[in-house]
Parts: sequence; structure tokens; C-alpha cells
Amino acid sequence: MSTDKPARIKRITVPMLREMKQQGTPITMLTAYDYPFARIFDEAGVDTLLVGDSLGMVVQGRNTTLPVTLDHMIYHGEMVARAAKRALVIVDMPFMSYQVSPQQAVESAGRIMKETEAAAVKLEGGVDQAETISRIVRADIPVMGHIGMTPQSVHLFGSMSKIQRDADKIIAEAKAVEEAGAFAIVLELIPKDLAREISSQLSIPTIGIGAGPHCDGQVLVMHDMLGIVQDFHPKFVKRFEDLKGKTSSAVQSYIEEVRSHAYPSDAHSHA
Ligand code: KIV
Repeated sequence: MSTDKPARIKRITVPMLREMKQQGTPITMLTAYDYPFARIFDEAGVDTLLVGDSLGMVVQGRNTTLPVTLDHMIYHGEMVARAAKRALVIVDMPFMSYQVSPQQAVESAGRIMKETEAAAVKLEGGVDQAETISRIVRADIPVMGHIGMTPQSVHLFGSMSKIQRDADKIIAEAKAVEEAGAFAIVLELIPKDLAREISSQLSIPTIGIGAGPHCDGQVLVMHDMLGIVQDFHPKFVKRFEDLKGKTSSAVQSYIEEVRSHAYPSDAHSHA
């Protein structure tokens, strides 16, 4: 009988992401919102799982992320954190859970950490949120920043698909987030050469979405990359699977088999 213990899975940590940047190892991140998908993604080897407030759109079917509440994020964050054995889990801070004051932000981030057991939080904004990021980090909670097209500001931008091209402003935002103590930063919808410049100027990893190939890592919304949602196709999304088509055809087969009495057969019935 073998006495070998099963190999322990090495969990990805916040400091490991910086090492990955230094070693030039691309960081992979996917959004996840529930236990079964988080478990599949974790077992497949993704480095980080983001419980994004995009859940307002892809799970709740809303037009923006603004109605998502802190309780919604905690509900989904807890399921994802419970599923992940290796991946670092980061939970988004939803609209109006941190903008009111740094104290409100620390309280909201604290609830996320205590009630979900995730490893970090993410919030949107650069220079304007620097003090808030620094206050959360001083409470020993790791923070991921998010600049460029920030969906919680959709009504200021006028649309969610507007590429952000003001290089001086975006570089200043990125530096403010790093100086405030964030451990990584999402760059959303910015030109690839600007993303390359920011990635080379920062010592923290950049995670791109619609920001080209020169970021230190990439993130996609699971419903986009798996083809569950197909009525949203910006240039940056690559559909790696057609789960909508596959699911629909499985459901049609089920309907046909029930109607034709092919299912359940003896093989699926108890004697
Ligand atoms: O909410 C989200 O899913 C995000 C990613 C798109 C980065 O913020």
C-alpha cells in the first residue's frame, strides 16, 4: 500500500502575482459567480478568479452594474471562494459601497473579506480613489485597482464600449493606484501601446481586458469567452466555446426524448 500523501495544491497568493510579472509569466484571470463554474475554472488551472460586479449584467440580466449591492457580491463571492482551492479569489466592490468615504470603503471591504473568505477586493478609479485604496490596504486588505473604461462610470462615459485614449490621464491614474498600495491593476479598453507603456512603468502587474497583448495578464468575463452570452461581441472578446449553442441543443434533445418517450428508458429506471 502506498504511503504517499496526495500532492498539495499550491495556492496562488498576492505576492506570487508580482513574482509572475517579474518572471514574465502571464497571469490568467476569469470572472466566476458560482460554485460549479468556479470549481471547473480552478481545476483547469486559472490563476485568479474575479467575482465581478459584471454579475449585474451577465447573471441578473440588468443593463449596467450599478444596481448590484454589497450583499449580492458577498452572496456570490462566498460560493466562488469556497470552490477555489488554488486560484486567488478577488471580489469587486459594487457601486456606492466605497465612493462615499474611505471609512465606508474599509467597512465594505471588511465585510467582503470576513463573509466570503476571498483574498482581495477590487475597486474602480485612479487618482480620485487613491486615498480610499490606501486606507483599505492599511487595514491589511489587498486591493486590485481598475482604470480605463470603468463600468460604474457608464453614465459619465456615455457608453460601456468607449476606448479610453487620454494617455497622460491614464498613466497618472495607474501611478496613483500603484502608489496607493494596490497589488495589481485592471486596464480596461485602452489602446495596446498605452497598456504596454503602463505595464513597463509599473512594478505591480497589469491585467488587461480590451487592452492588447502587452499586459502582464488577461481577464475575460466567463459568459463572453464561453459563448453563453452572444449578443455582446466587442473586438477584444474571443469566444473559446459555444456553450449557448451546445446547451440549447442538449435541451432540445431532452425535450424531444421526453415527448417521444425515448427518455427515460429502462437504463434510467429502477426495477
Ligand atoms: O466586473 C467585472 O467582471 C470586471 C472585469 C470585466 C474586469 O470588472
